[in-house]
Amino acid sequence: MTLTSTTPPAAGDPVLEHLVATLTVEEKVALVIGTGIWTTAAVPRIGLRAMVMSDGPAGVRGRGADPDETSASFPAPSALAATWDVGLADRAGALFAAEARRHGVDVVLAPQVNLQRTPVGGRHFECYSEDPLLSGEIAAALVEAAQERGVGMSVKHFVANDSETERTSYVARVDERALRECYLAPFERVVRGSGAWSVMGAYSGLDAFGLAAPVLEHAPLLHGLLKDEWGFDGVLVSDWVATQSVGPAVRGGLDLQMPGPDGPWGDGLLAAVRSGEVPAELLDDKVRRLLLLATRVGALGAQGESPAPAAPAAEPFLRELAARATVVLKDDAGLLPLPLAEGATVALLGPAATQPFTQGGGSGYVRPDRATDPAGALRDALPAGVRLVVQAGARARLTPPPLDVAGRCADPVTGEPGVRVELLDAAGTTLDTWTDPAWNGWLQHVRPDAVTARLTAAVRLPEPGEHELGVGTVGRHEVLIAGQLASTSAAEVDEGVILSSGHNHPVTPVVRVSGTGTAELRAELQVVHPVGYASFVRALLAHRLPGPTAEDEMAAAVAEAAAADVAVVVVGTTEEVESEGFDRRDLDLPGNQDEFVRRVCAANPRTVVVVNAGAPVLLPWLAEAPTVLWAWLAGQECGTALADVLLGVTEPSGRLPWTLPARAEDVPVPHAVPRDGVIEYVEGLHVGYRSWEKDGREPAACFGHGLGWTTWSYEDVTAEPAEAGDVTVTVTVRNTGARDGHEVVQVYVEPPADPGGPERPVRWLGGFAAVHVPAGASARVPVRVPRRAFEVWDPAAGGWFVPAGEHVLRAGRSVRDLRLISKAPLDQSSARRNR
Ligand code: BGC
Repeated sequence: MTLTSTTPPAAGDPVLEHLVATLTVEEKVALVIGTGIWTTAAVPRIGLRAMVMSDGPAGVRGRGADPDETSASFPAPSALAATWDVGLADRAGALFAAEARRHGVDVVLAPQVNLQRTPVGGRHFECYSEDPLLSGEIAAALVEAAQERGVGMSVKHFVANDSETERTSYVARVDERALRECYLAPFERVVRGSGAWSVMGAYSGLDAFGLAAPVLEHAPLLHGLLKDEWGFDGVLVSDWVATQSVGPAVRGGLDLQMPGPDGPWGDGLLAAVRSGEVPAELLDDKVRRLLLLATRVGALGAQGESPAPAAPAAEPFLRELAARATVVLKDDAGLLPLPLAEGATVALLGPAATQPFTQGGGSGYVRPDRATDPAGALRDALPAGVRLVVQAGARARLTPPPLDVAGRCADPVTGEPGVRVELLDAAGTTLDTWTDPAWNGWLQHVRPDAVTARLTAAVRLPEPGEHELGVGTVGRHEVLIAGQLASTSAAEVDEGVILSSGHNHPVTPVVRVSGTGTAELRAELQVVHPVGYASFVRALLAHRLPGPTAEDEMAAAVAEAAAADVAVVVVGTTEEVESEGFDRRDLDLPGNQDEFVRRVCAANPRTVVVVNAGAPVLLPWLAEAPTVLWAWLAGQECGTALADVLLGVTEPSGRLPWTLPARAEDVPVPHAVPRDGVIEYVEGLHVGYRSWEKDGREPAACFGHGLGWTTWSYEDVTAEPAEAGDVTVTVTVRNTGARDGHEVVQVYVEPPADPGGPERPVRWLGGFAAVHVPAGASARVPVRVPRRAFEVWDPAAGGWFVPAGEHVLRAGRSVRDLRLISKAPLDQSSARRNR
């Protein structure tokens, strides 16, 4: 039988029940195991095609089959959250859906609603916020927009997967209130409120609800809470290669092992079902969920290709989004937009001026449809008669730049341009040889019998002076450069190197070679055959030419700054610093960028500093810099968006979705390192800014901060009861500046003063709304504060309650710029005084 209905049947639908009954046990088992890195099984006789899943939170990567496949590259998720604008999140969701269809993808592995518990968390940039409400509202708008268009989103990583150190094994120990009120809250919002079709279970473990176990085996979490209590009818998919068992994971609540067919379920699920270790009803439940998902995305009974859904045009939308997300941390000198008279000179400085960091490292990376950079975009946008000078002046990367293979290397045997590649089997016999004219650091999809790759090249170094040459690789290797042993290791690696992201940013030892001749490069490298992923060889070829010293470069750029009418310095992190797979060691800007900013600011009082980073970095020069913008990892439109901000085309209306520390020692959760395999969430309810409020420490910029380009007065506030115990807070704001602008009205809740009441944070976000108001005008802005914002979880009773007493509502521009106060009109009849 073939299903032809286009209306998604609810779970328990007779059509689905019939299909489940007609499937053989072998087919059912096959359905819950991936058939490749991104695909699920097809059963053509019931009209089911394979479903395709793909990353991720900053664009839709595609199936990876075509190395030239490109995608719309979105600003990193924290930037979307920095708009505090659910309307923009809705449009982003529509674009995700269109991108998914363009790439033949049914389910996008996003959004990531883990909270930014510590600023050193490697995937901080992929998450939305420190705050559960902001994370949940942005995610909900995005997921609803994509799902309305027939594309699934897999909300990840369920749950308390907030750091990367030992990420496949650590156990997060979180008390139940913190879990419910903070870490689970955005998942609950998207599952219950938006009906998410898929959730991804984390690599890590969880010690909560009376059980310490890997998340994928955690029945109280997956069955008890997600499926039974929240009514989740979608597919709980494993994070990639995260499944560690058959019986415990099947019983725990995992529905789909990805990837496949290798892995524990591929090896043992069929036998476990046949032996009765896995009950048939459990397997049926998973199959039903898979079929429901297939119906929802149009993979079951669909006739032909799914139509491309309506969405905003990618380029203008991503440009607007990146510009709107930009946060004005300060503008003491009124340099926005740039004051540019005819004949003025702009010095655009900093390593990211020409080489911006547009996406964090790891699985979220997409090959962008197009790339823009600040230098190119400003050159195009500046009015005629304004001169632009561009210089790096500082170094952000720790590894030397890529070797120009096409221009400098020759195959030592044939003399052709490029590097010579030989694949050898276990006996050392050559299987294949060719010249690669443009080696890009990777060999992908290597034949299964290849064990070693040998790379050789004659590198031309005509420039006199000292060159640095290096090869970054992973696994067993031996690298010789100009006869010197650069690096050697006998240790083999497996898929773990992908999970730790070690293959993306391999350590790259360099040797120094004198120029004017040719250097022989010879590298014997492991061919990595990781379970669940395509095999590969990694060889990042690096080369720094003789040239000015770092000090000379800096002095020259500072001189340009001094001579210019206005200086713009773009500094930031790189993928060596911010990536999935590892946490940051510190919060510093890498390289010599801090010193550079100080010197530029001293040389020119009209300096705009632009920080190109995803997660917080310390800005020790903040007081010395007149104007500072936080410009995120802005995706493909990073250059055009920055030009729009600097030239006054689009308001940088972002507000920080996290706290920017001033000093490392003040950070409430300064690291993410498990102790004996356990991470204790000792701060409890006081995640992010809530700890800063409790401890009374001064950050560089607080949660919610962002100036925009106009000024606001807060004139009036009222609070009315709304349906379902919610409260509507109506705030009147006036745009008192000379420009039309966006305001983000933020409402914070403070608990009743009750010494006997439950522990509460000092204040927390209760609701927010973004509004656009013309210069001089005022607006009445309704902000919905959900009942949940007042509630406390009672672990003993297993329920929510509103503590008795008067909750205070404060409206303002950030958690520390609170302008108006009101009482929460809560019905006290059901409120409780105990606990
Ligand atoms: C990441 C996930 C991602 C998956 C597939 C994992 O390593 O943790 O976020 O969706 O890989 O690329």
